[in-house]
Amino acid sequence: MKEQLEAAWKAQFGDTSGVRYFFAPGRVNLIGEHTDYNGGHVFPCALTIGTFAAARQREDELLRFYSVNFPEAGVITVPLRGLVNRKEDGWTNYPKGVIAEMEKRGYRAPAGMDILYLGTIPNGSGLSSSASIEVLTAEIFSEIFSWEIDGIEKALLCQAAERGFNGVNCGIMDQFAIAMGKKNHAVFLDTNTLAYEYVPLDLAGVRIVIMNTNKKRGLGDSAYNERRAECEQALAEIQKVRKTGSLGELTAEDWESCRDAIASPVRKKRAKHAVFENLRTIRAAEALRAGDLAGFGRLMNESHISLRDDYEVTGKELDTLVAAAWEVPGVIGARMTGAGFGGCAVSLVKEEAVEALMQTVKERYEAQIGYAPSFYVAEAGGGPGVLAEC
Ligand code: GLA
Repeated sequence: MKEQLEAAWKAQFGDTSGVRYFFAPGRVNLIGEHTDYNGGHVFPCALTIGTFAAARQREDELLRFYSVNFPEAGVITVPLRGLVNRKEDGWTNYPKGVIAEMEKRGYRAPAGMDILYLGTIPNGSGLSSSASIEVLTAEIFSEIFSWEIDGIEKALLCQAAERGFNGVNCGIMDQFAIAMGKKNHAVFLDTNTLAYEYVPLDLAGVRIVIMNTNKKRGLGDSAYNERRAECEQALAEIQKVRKTGSLGELTAEDWESCRDAIASPVRKKRAKHAVFENLRTIRAAEALRAGDLAGFGRLMNESHISLRDDYEVTGKELDTLVAAAWEVPGVIGARMTGAGFGGCAVSLVKEEAVEALMQTVKERYEAQIGYAPSFYVAEAGGGPGVLAEC
């Protein structure tokens, strides 16, 4: 990869003396979907695919960005001071947001930077290419300027940048999973307190297969914010009859006793998903710790059904992928992952069934949807860092 980065750097910026090389992963969420802004648990892992970068400090106060993934955008140059979101700056609003947020928090860059990015996460796949770029940018600046920013602070500042600078009202899961990733482990995170635990992914004979709908996501952001608003309103209704700080604090019994406080049937379904998805995630972590992969898989399937019927964020592409996967012998569990409305599904599959899964799902999906899905056998990778060290 370093050779590829070097060649791309030479083509855009010339000589490579003093250039340093970095990596930040993408993430896949195993279970715990749409719980991170409801005070619940999530259970993602970092991937070995992600975003690579080459970077070098400048002597003036300019930032120059180039992405091998968006060659048509060319080199985008902006002043380091007074960064604002501008539509014409396209994808660079993600790194710009992080640099602006770091400055807000007292990490003031003494000079500008040239950065070249190269991502191996398919765009729009729901495997967090934007959070990967954000965390990578924080990593580059903190390394080059020797700032001591720990992983959790990086995650928080990148989330703040995505919300404030880029207007996506996301939870903490993506940035946390990426900034705190650990090889061969999943991160069991309580989004209410940020308490977390690394759970080993002991998957002897079992693979994590990611299935991409290849659907262009369009309405995702507005529907995402709408779900958030529905959950917030449902929580406010519950709080009239019960003291609770978030939907993630409720047990099944609590839910029984207060659900009728929610006036609309739609909001009731949304809140029900948030409450029970959180409980499922806690059980899933227990199952994995106990080596009960079959139990884990059942919870994944239940998660998908809840996201399909109660949270209504799947859509026919994800439902087709997952339903086809469920029918393949050797598939332990499958569900959509990420925000939904397209993007990817994740499955746990016995090694000997991986080929059959791909074959069957591809045939069914093509017949019903009209174009091909793609597949990716995932490895749980580590967090961000300098390239030679990752
Ligand atoms: C997106 C958001 C996350 C999380 C998921 C859904 O990936 O960025 O914060 O809410 O959707 O679980």
